[in-house]
Amino acid sequence: MKGLLPRAGAFGEGEPGGKPMLAKTAADTMTENAIAVGPIILLGAPGAGKGTQAKQIAERYGIPQISTGDILRGNVARGTEFGKRAKLDMNSGKLVSDDLVNSMVAERLSQPDCQRGFILDGFPRTVAQAQWLDQELAARGFGQSGLPVVVINVAVSYNQLLQRLTGRRTCPVDGKIYNIYFQPPKQEGNCDLCGAELVQRKDDKEEVISERLKSYERETLPLVEYYHRQGSLRQVNGELPVEQVTAGVFRLIEDPAGREKQ
Ligand code: AP5
Repeated sequence: MKGLLPRAGAFGEGEPGGKPMLAKTAADTMTENAIAVGPIILLGAPGAGKGTQAKQIAERYGIPQISTGDILRGNVARGTEFGKRAKLDMNSGKLVSDDLVNSMVAERLSQPDCQRGFILDGFPRTVAQAQWLDQELAARGFGQSGLPVVVINVAVSYNQLLQRLTGRRTCPVDGKIYNIYFQPPKQEGNCDLCGAELVQRKDDKEEVISERLKSYERETLPLVEYYHRQGSLRQVNGELPVEQVTAGVFRLIEDPAGREKQ
């Protein structure tokens, strides 16, 4: 079938011995839902649910989630040069420099699992990053001449964002996201999947949250207008329960006519 998504490499690294991780379940899901998916950009304020939705999209379509926040946090945890440069900005709720983030994304996009599509979660975040990305995607054959770029804005009100961010807990082992108010784990404080103790992100403290929301308004909100003018912007109501938001996101991805309409 033309446009089938690739089986191999779409779920990150393989296990030692060459056996692909998640191969059975993910490949089955992917075959059932195989459509040609290009780049998907998730826009939205901190806590809007980009990461939550990105995981659902990745699972359904077998394309990788590229979260610049996760990549940066990984670099901070490993003490790399990138991590050292990013740490201070991240811990105070500021954006990391465009150059640093762009080069990280360029490196990730050149990996083979990105050839047929990917989800950008938290990137771009400034007009300069968006302009850089336009060129990068065109050079990689996406956009006008190839698979279309779909930009989905996950819209959530300010008060709801605060509760989501202060209530978020994450599994340090498998990355599953919880919320003590909205999606609590079955057993308080532990991951449903692996039992690991859940952690709270350093930047989910109230004083840092307010700086993150200011950075969002100042630097990222203009991207809604940027993509609207390009004709690629779509929007979902991110205040609905997770499953309903996911259903709306899947509809936007799977309706090619909807992608072309403004
Ligand atoms: P990053 O990690 O990208 O953080 P963010 O954009 O602030 O977004 P979050 O991860 O906080 O929220 P989310 O929208 O993914 O929500 P989630 O699904 O977790 O960036 C961190 C930092 O890295 C930045 O501050 C910056 O310093 C740096 N950085 C990253 N990218 C950069 C870039 N491109 N340029 C420069 N600097 C960059 O959900 C949140 C909570 O809500 C969870 O508890 C979840 O369970 C709950 N929830 C989700 N959906 C729903 C729902 N529908 N109903 C109820 N609860 C829900």
